[in-house]
Amino acid sequence: MSTVYLNGEFIPKERAMISVDDRGFIFGDGIYEVVRVVEGRIFEWGPHAERLVRGLAGLRIALGTRDVSSLKDVSERLVRDNGLTEGEATVYLQVTRGAALRTHHFPPPDTAPTVYAIATRFVVPLAQRENGVAAITFPDFRWARCDLKTVNLLGAVLARQAAAEAGAYEAILLRDGVMTEGAATNAFAVIGGTIRTYPLSNYILPGITRKVVVELIADLGLALATDPVTQGQLVDVDELFLTGTTTDVTPVVTLDGKAVGNGRPGPTAKMLQEALTARMYATVGAAR
Ligand code: PDD
Repeated sequence: MSTVYLNGEFIPKERAMISVDDRGFIFGDGIYEVVRVVEGRIFEWGPHAERLVRGLAGLRIALGTRDVSSLKDVSERLVRDNGLTEGEATVYLQVTRGAALRTHHFPPPDTAPTVYAIATRFVVPLAQRENGVAAITFPDFRWARCDLKTVNLLGAVLARQAAAEAGAYEAILLRDGVMTEGAATNAFAVIGGTIRTYPLSNYILPGITRKVVVELIADLGLALATDPVTQGQLVDVDELFLTGTTTDVTPVVTLDGKAVGNGRPGPTAKMLQEALTARMYATVGAAR
């Protein structure tokens, strides 16, 4: 039986209940994070916590930096209590504006945020990493604050469903004729020896894996340009790959049913995947 965290308590998942008035349920009024756990250690907690604090500030949900810091202990305890200290796991964290009678504007200031966390076993999908995945293109009709990791995920849900129906793993989102990101990943292309990705802005999530991969690109001396890839360029890239907490660096080998590059995972994605795995496990080793 899985133990979860809800509003200060560690309880069996079956007993974790929230109100039908919860603003996460009624409005999607909340923020979430997904962190990776390797051998009991959280990878890149600091940047995830910073993004959570920034997101809460963006939504004006009053949960202090101190409370967010305490979620690291909460996450580590969930990993221990659920027997996940060996191998890999993820922790999902969610904070909503709390439960109050439905009004669009904020509830009374004494309304406590709802804080929930769950740890789950993560089995690395090695075949996807090695062989690559299929993707489709899909319109990016999400709102204009994609930099906030809100639980309002309808754009991603509809895009991923279209991908699933096409037998693909991811939907590459197109806004104003350029690739922004994947429905639940950041997206990179390699064109003529330069790695290209959409610049940080309100139109993409500042992915933690993206940040690490950008650092690895510099470490490896590879060329990076944060120039958007146009829809026209996308049909003729040498490589296309996705990054994310549960995606690592995953090559895209077909896009809308057509081969990307030579139809096999490219060397850049492979190199970055290896460097990312090394960094993940080195961090764990160093922390021991
Ligand atoms: N998705 N872009 C979007 C829209 C995302 O939802 C995610 C993460 C990313 C990658 O960010 P990171 O490297 O910090 O995981 C980019 C999470 C994992 C999810 O929704 O489950």
